[in-house]
Amino acid sequence: MRKSSSAAIALSIGMAVIMLISVAARADQPPGVYTVKDGNKVDEKTLEGWKTWRAMACERCHGPEQEGLVGPALVNSLKTLSKDDFHTTITNGRPEKGMPNFGAVPTVQKNWENLYNYLKGRSEGKIAPGHLYPMNQADAPPPPEGWNKPK
Ligand code: HEC
Repeated sequence: MRKSSSAAIALSIGMAVIMLISVAARADQPPGVYTVKDGNKVDEKTLEGWKTWRAMACERCHGPEQEGLVGPALVNSLKTLSKDDFHTTITNGRPEKGMPNFGAVPTVQKNWENLYNYLKGRSEGKIAPGHLYPMNQADAPPPPEGWNKPK
């Protein structure tokens, strides 16, 4: 009897903890998955994400530093946009609002998670704007001066 009631208490405490964690996760998106050094040297996958960004010229509408032009500033959007919503948005686009769809573009479908993580790193202020380099490239130039200072 005593044993089972303490087990019940432990179980309900466990449930409460799980509920608290899931509430916290919903309020704030989980962090991006990437590795970065010196602001502009990144792991291979994140580099592919950046290359996809360049190849698709997303900057035409979202700005070279993701700061926004005719399209919204993705450095802000990615703070709250879920990974699923990101995928849906780039796959289907929002044609009536000027966001093209990239669902038929193999590079984007193959690299969408890398692209997501690259943009997440930009929105988290961990990845510098502009050119990125492989992690182990010793002669990589430094990122733009002051990129990580508050504007
Ligand atoms: C022709 C211009 C154009 C291009 C090119 C473009 N976008 Fe967009 N994008 C837009 C516009 C405009 C919106 C806002 C749509 C709306 O009002 O909901 C948008 C919205 C988005 C959103 C949703 C932002 C939010 O806050 O909900 C994401 C993510 C996004 N674009 C990513 C990309 C990526 C990644 C690329 C390149 C693969 C790209 N876009 C290329 C115009 C563009």
